[in-house]
Amino acid sequence: MYLGIDLGTSAVKTVLVDGAQRVIASESRPLMITSTQSGYYEQDPAQWIEATFATLDALKTSHGKELATVQGIGLSGQMHGATLLDASSRPLRPCILWNDGRAAAECRVLEQRWPALRAVTGNKAMPGFTAPKLLWVATHEPEVFAATKLVLLPKAYLRLVMSGEAVEDVSDASGSLWLDVARRDWSDEALAATGLSRDHMPRLVEGCAAAATLRSDLAQRWGMVRQPVIAGGAGDNPAGAVGIGAIQPGTAFVSLGTSGALLAPTSTIAANPDCAVHTFCHAIPGMWIQAGAMLSAASCLAWAARLFGVSEAELLAPLGSHPQAPSPVSFLPYLAGERTPHDDPVVRGMLDGLSHGTDRAAIVQAVLEGVAFALADCRDALADAGIVITEADAIGGGSRSGFWLSVLANVLNIPIHRFAGGETGAAFGAARLGRLAVTGEAIATVCTRPQRIETYKPDTGLTDAYAERLPAWRELYRPRH
Ligand code: XUL
Repeated sequence: MYLGIDLGTSAVKTVLVDGAQRVIASESRPLMITSTQSGYYEQDPAQWIEATFATLDALKTSHGKELATVQGIGLSGQMHGATLLDASSRPLRPCILWNDGRAAAECRVLEQRWPALRAVTGNKAMPGFTAPKLLWVATHEPEVFAATKLVLLPKAYLRLVMSGEAVEDVSDASGSLWLDVARRDWSDEALAATGLSRDHMPRLVEGCAAAATLRSDLAQRWGMVRQPVIAGGAGDNPAGAVGIGAIQPGTAFVSLGTSGALLAPTSTIAANPDCAVHTFCHAIPGMWIQAGAMLSAASCLAWAARLFGVSEAELLAPLGSHPQAPSPVSFLPYLAGERTPHDDPVVRGMLDGLSHGTDRAAIVQAVLEGVAFALADCRDALADAGIVITEADAIGGGSRSGFWLSVLANVLNIPIHRFAGGETGAAFGAARLGRLAVTGEAIATVCTRPQRIETYKPDTGLTDAYAERLPAWRELYRPRH
């Protein structure tokens, strides 16, 4: 048995996977985000531990026999968050999350201070990344910065609590701006530019390598007969890639989670930091992932559901299975600012084209289309780096909506495939990494492609209509700085 734990932004999801790669049980516990001012997003690390342990306690109750035989655990996590620990490994402040936009000025300082940043890290300094957040803390909370002995990404903190070891995998570390992505190692220059050194960093491993062992008291708490190995694991998107077997070039996929992304695994680095394309090491050795990343995707639908006071399912039901024509309303999904292609933490969302006749369905459709148009921007930023995407798989909670995938197929003008279990992709991918760390099996044997359950094909009438709308939708974006 293997466990995959995805420390997401809105929830921790844990899956128990058997030797035949069947998910035999899953548990999820919600997480809260604190926002003290617009563009500030934080989480208390204690919440992650409580939620994760609650999923495992629940699995012990429902599937104690199976949990007892777990050999390997894989962790997947929301990327980029800055978890600052003191000399006793206690968090000094809430974690500053991946979608936090406070560190824009620090990004400019960092790029001036270290001109090789884009070339070495493969990325542009953007506020969501970890390094600029540390510069922000150094300026605004100097006592916290001075007391910081270790900086961990969210899932590395979870691993530290579960095992006592500070270890990070190279895919998640890529989102820190401290990693030399070609060498898959910390960059001393990058660290120095933030006033840090390797001493502040966890040890690095590949995603499928053994990183640590579960603490004996926790193994006992969950009735495990031996202390399972904890694999390096991966950032949520690379873990999702492993879950759907996207481990070769030509296996692009779209993630519709709280955040959104269009991602392409590559065997060489094809960076395009000037267009805010993200470069991550893959969770598989010798591979990378190039991505266009959005700060708000399924969270836009969650916003609309809160606004109308109904569930997401109730919002989607009246739309039917596929669009008949683009909505008369347009929506910019920049509820928390945007990364690719604008790198603009202060822009906000917009509804355009409202009339007396506008109903709820037109707005909901516009929300889904706005996310799809933003993914078209990601596609173009990737194309600018030479990555041409001719089809894509969909993962993440938003991939449950056939209507949304049909919109995406028509806006991107490519077939979009849906997999069985695609919505729990990252946790399942993490479980695969947990297995690889224990068995040492060939990666391709374990990371197979799950069964596709549906393909959404572009329809010529609609692709033309959406292609006509895209330039007008782009015109709505006005930088606020
Ligand atoms: C990727 C990114 C998000 C977060 C949260 O760059 O910021 O995918 O990992 O999902």
